[in-house]
Amino acid sequence: MKYSAFRTFWLLVFLCNCSNLMALSLTEAEEKANGVCAGCHGKDGVNGVLPSYPIIAGQHEDYLNQALMDYKSGARKNAVMSGIATTLTKAEMKALAKYFASLPTPLNDKNRIK
Ligand code: HEC
Repeated sequence: MKYSAFRTFWLLVFLCNCSNLMALSLTEAEEKANGVCAGCHGKDGVNGVLPSYPIIAGQHEDYLNQALMDYKSGARKNAVMSGIATTLTKAEMKALAKYFASLPTPLNDKNRIK
């Protein structure tokens, strides 16, 4: 009995870790982005609700993922984004970074600001 409860415990620990690392599809990331991120960054990741909100569409995937991890760990501090990043799993951050990196972007348009 005791042994089986012990085994169940470790099985649960294992499963929880798996779901945290399980890859999300781009469609799942898009749903999450539209549900959570679009409210501030815009659905396109370009036209945020305030002009001071950074363009995240087309930014490097690694950069976006790192930014999210840093908000979550506290290495990068921002009252708004830290709160949001703490609710995201590693897999979600990775998928969201991939999704936003895949969107069309004006970031490489040197004539954007006239
Ligand atoms: C309530 C508004 C709000 C929501 C919702 C929001 N963000 Fe942000 N986000 C901001 C603000 C404001 C900043 C700028 C913070 C700073 O200066 O560090 C930011 C910055 C970022 C950055 C860093 C960009 C850079 O150029 O360094 C990333 C990446 C990011 N957000 C991704 C996301 C993702 C992914 C979601 C959805 C899970 C999301 N944000 C939801 C407001 C928001």
